[in-house]
Amino acid sequence: MVDVLLGLQWGDEGKGKIADFLTPNYDVVARFQGGPNAGHSLEINGMKHVLNTIPSGIFHENCINLIGNGVVIDPILLRAEIEKTIAAGADVRGGLYISKKAHLILPSHRLLDAASENAKGEQKIGSTLRGISPTYQDKTGRSGLRVGDADSPEFKALYQKALEKHISVFRYYQFDYEETLKNLESEWFEAVEYLRGFKQVNSEFFLHRQIKAGKKVLAEGAQGSLLDLDFGSYPFVTSSNTISGGACVGLGLAPKYINKVTGIFKAYCTRVGSGPFPTELNDDMGQFLRDKGHEYGATTGRPRRTGWLDLPALKYAIMLSGVDELIMMKADVLSGIDTIQAALAYEGCSDEEQCPFNMQGTTLTPEYKSFPGWQEDISVIREYQALPETFRQYIDFMEAECEVPIGVISVGPDREQTIMKK
Ligand code: GDP
Ligand code: IMO
Ligand code: MG
Repeated sequence: MVDVLLGLQWGDEGKGKIADFLTPNYDVVARFQGGPNAGHSLEINGMKHVLNTIPSGIFHENCINLIGNGVVIDPILLRAEIEKTIAAGADVRGGLYISKKAHLILPSHRLLDAASENAKGEQKIGSTLRGISPTYQDKTGRSGLRVGDADSPEFKALYQKALEKHISVFRYYQFDYEETLKNLESEWFEAVEYLRGFKQVNSEFFLHRQIKAGKKVLAEGAQGSLLDLDFGSYPFVTSSNTISGGACVGLGLAPKYINKVTGIFKAYCTRVGSGPFPTELNDDMGQFLRDKGHEYGATTGRPRRTGWLDLPALKYAIMLSGVDELIMMKADVLSGIDTIQAALAYEGCSDEEQCPFNMQGTTLTPEYKSFPGWQEDISVIREYQALPETFRQYIDFMEAECEVPIGVISVGPDREQTIMKK
C-alpha cells in the first residue's frame, strides 16, 4: 500500500521534516514529481540537512529511497547532493534508487529558464532557475532525455539534437548562453556518468514488486498544492502536478494502491516567487513571521512572503487531494502573538467555489476571524494535553472547518519537536 504526503499551500510547509519523521513506518520513500526546485529540510540531533532531489527517508537505515519517473533530475546538482549526503553519514549508495524514466535537466534547460524569466520582466514567475519548466516542456514535447538514455550509444547525438533546438530559442531571446554552457557541459556529462554508478531501475516494476511483497511506501510530494500546474494560481505555478493524483503518474501506480493521503500545512502561509497571495502581510506582523519562522528559501535563500492562514485555499487543496489527515506545522512561530487571524472566506465568492478561475486577475479580499493567542513557548512541549488551552481551541476550530482531523502538530524543526494528537 502507498500513503501520500504532500504540501497543501505554496510549498515549504515542512514536508522534509515530516517525511523523515514518518519514515520508520515505511520501507520505501519515493519522490514523484518536481526536481531540484525543491528544498526539503530535516533536522536530526541539531544537525540540519537540505535535500533537493533525494527523498527524505535517506537518513534511515534499510529504507529504499526512490526518485520516481515524474521527477526531473539535474545530474550536476544531484551528484553534489549525493556527495554532501554521504558526507553527512547517509548510506546513499545502498539506499538510493533512480528511475530510468526520470527526465534529465540539461545545462541549456537552466539557461532557458533564465532567458524566459528575463524576457517576462515584471511578469516573471520568480522560478528557482533550476530549469524545471523547460525540462517538463521537452518531456511533454517528446524531445526530452531520460536517465536510461545515458546507456545508449546515441546519447551524445540525442543531447546535440535537443541542444540545437534550445539554441534557436536562445537566439529568439537574444540570450548570451555560450560561455556558461561551455563551462557546464563537461561537468554535466561527468555527472551523468557518475549517476550510472547508482541503482537505476525500471521504477514502475520495481515499486510494484515492493508492493506485492507487502512493503509500505510513502510517496513524498514536492512544492505545494497551490503551485500545481493545473490547479494552482496559473501561470504562477510550477510545471508538475503536486496533488495526490500526481503520485499515480509520477510513480506508475494505479489509484487503487493509494491508501492514506496526509496533507501538511503551516499555521500561517508563505510563498516564494510571484503570484497571488490573498492573505499576504506587508507589515510588521509579516516581518515577525518571516524572522521567527526563518522564512528564507532552503533552495534559493530568497525571503519568503508571509501571511495569515488561508482556509478557502487550504480547503481547496484538501478537496483536490482527498486529504485524510492533516499535519499542522510551525505552530511554535505563533507563540507570543496576542491575536491570531485566519481567512475564513473571500468577499463576494460563493461558499461552494471559493477559489475563482482567475486568481491573478481578481483582487480577493479575505474575511478574517480572530483567535486569542498564547504566550507560552510551545516548542518545548511534547504532549498534546500540555499545549495551551487557546491553542487547542484553535486546533479544534481548524479541524471542524476543514472536516479533516489533525493528527500531528509540529512545534519546531527537529525530529523530536513533534506532537502526536491521538
Ligand atoms: P519543505 O520544502 O516542505 O520540506 O519545507 P522547507 O524545508 O523548505 O521549509 C520548512 C522550514 O521550516 C525548514 O527550515 C524547517 O527546518 C523548518 N521547520 C519545519 N517544521 C517546523 C516547525 O514546526 N517549527 C519551526 N519553527 N520550524 C520548522
Ligand atoms: P518545496 O518542495 C516553494 C515556486 C518558485 C516559483 C514557482 C515556479 O521545497 O516546497 P519553478 O522553479 O518550479 O519553475 O518555480 O514555484 N517553487 C517553490 N516554492 N517551495 C518549493 O519546493 C518550490 N518549488 C518551486 O518559487 O514561484
Ligand atoms: Mg522547501
